[in-house]
Amino acid sequence: MSHKYPKTVLCVGKETVNTVLEEIEKINRFAHADIIELRADYIKEEELTEENLTKIKNASDKEILFTLRKQEEGGQRKISDSVREAFCFTAIKIGFEYIDIENSTPKDMLDRIMSEVRKAGRSTQLILSFHNFSETLESEISEKFNDIKSKNPDIIKIVTMANSEADSNFIIDFVRSNVSDSVRLALFCMGEWGTTNRIQCHNLGSALTYLAVASGTGTASGQLTYDEFVSNPDIQKTTICGLIGKPIRHSMSPLVHNAGYRDQNINCKYILIETDDIDFAIHYIKSNNIRGLSATMPLKIKAIKFLDDIDPLAEKIGSINTIVNTAGKLKGYNTDVVGAIRSIKDVMTLKNKKVAMIGAGGAARAIGVGLIEEGAEVIILNRTVEKAERLAGDLKCRFSGIDPAKLQDCDLIINTTSVGMYPRVDESILQEIPPEAVVMDIVYYPLETKLLKLAKQNGNETITGFGMFIYQAAEQYKLFTTNDPPLEVMKKVSLERLSELGK
Ligand SMILES: NC(=O)c1ccc[n+]([C@@H]2O[C@H](COP(=O)([O-])OP(=O)(O)OC[C@H]3O[C@@H](n4cnc5c(N)ncnc54)[C@H](OP(=O)(O)O)[C@@H]3O)[C@@H](O)[C@H]2O)c1
Repeated sequence: MSHKYPKTVLCVGKETVNTVLEEIEKINRFAHADIIELRADYIKEEELTEENLTKIKNASDKEILFTLRKQEEGGQRKISDSVREAFCFTAIKIGFEYIDIENSTPKDMLDRIMSEVRKAGRSTQLILSFHNFSETLESEISEKFNDIKSKNPDIIKIVTMANSEADSNFIIDFVRSNVSDSVRLALFCMGEWGTTNRIQCHNLGSALTYLAVASGTGTASGQLTYDEFVSNPDIQKTTICGLIGKPIRHSMSPLVHNAGYRDQNINCKYILIETDDIDFAIHYIKSNNIRGLSATMPLKIKAIKFLDDIDPLAEKIGSINTIVNTAGKLKGYNTDVVGAIRSIKDVMTLKNKKVAMIGAGGAARAIGVGLIEEGAEVIILNRTVEKAERLAGDLKCRFSGIDPAKLQDCDLIINTTSVGMYPRVDESILQEIPPEAVVMDIVYYPLETKLLKLAKQNGNETITGFGMFIYQAAEQYKLFTTNDPPLEVMKKVSLERLSELGK
């Protein structure tokens, strides 16, 4: 996410690990919740262990902030500095995305924690915080801001008690003057002015907006509940897009879409909504006003009957991979076909070309419709011949089992099966490849599959599945945002991720 846009922080202050986990489960359903703050100082001493913290960290795909607040700054119980330091190291080791440390922490302890955070690279970010629970002093805020800024944390957090409208206004002006692309400042006030103050600070770009899960569960006065936040008409909310399906935890889509939003400075974020329950998915889209969704297995076909409208190409294919929500009306698209055809057309034309497509699954159906629309002459080869026959019947083309003789004279061979996909990287759907054909594999992890390696050795031109992936994502991006997608940025982040995965 762009640093410019504020993130919401849902506070969890519970005494036992089980109740913490119950609370996290609720937050996992909140589309507008960005970060979960674990107030570890609320957890009973005997339950505050590395094992339990790991369990909590693994309970959500959302970012988690670890806070072991000291008592003088609002913590629930007395905890020695050495224990707090040890737990901060544990939180960094486990991979909590943020830790919050008081600026009043002894300098040598703070230096050690900051050095550990730096060693962890970008995986943990440091929030350096100051709280004044009784008043708002203008000179103190300026002094603390400069002091904390000089220590170069990832986020500067200052929270004070506002006792008058003037206090609240001072804070709002301070946010307005000091938040910038390079300064991530979370500043707002507590107390009876807190609620309106927090809304205005949020809209001005204060980095973090703390919310209670429900009324009575807040960890500070003036905090809005999540429901109050999402229903407040004055709050500038982030537009949400995402991916539905199951399993989706390893999808690269959030990385690719969010990199685009960041690049174009759009207040939009892309989240994972892991479910195979179509009723829940549709309810979630409508109740959270999700703007756009990528849909994957097993929802690509199931979703169709819940849509208000469907793009003619997707209707022809019989499956969708994209849903766009315009004022509560859902329209389905299939961008796999655009992705595949565009990546082929980067290399060759399709009109009157002979194409052998191996596989007769969902991807083959989408690509097949695209190939026929482009005027190619298609033959479908599949392990299960009846499936090839069925698809060929729908596309009105030829079919066969996977018979190498049928590949002779082909201009293009496309593997649409999962053969060769990680972890079975040593498998190839073909062992012999005819010399003249262009060879495409829609599997993109690994980027160069065994089939493509063999084709290259054989002197054939090749097309990786990455082009299809990135072009289908770019097409979705355009449908969700109506902007031209920043293709190079989207390509770069995903290629970097694929190369990291390959190490
Ligand atoms: N690049 C992209 O953007 C993109 C987009 C979509 C999908 N994909 C990839 O495409 C692949 C297929 O996806 P899908 O959604 O079409 O899956 P699917 O509907 O489950 O179809 C799988 C196909 O693979 C065949 N198959 C599986 N194992 C086989 C084996 N050992 N030998 C021969 N054939 C085998 C199946 O043949 P049978 O009918 O005989 O079972 C079927 O034709 C996946 O690896 C997916 O990751 C890539």
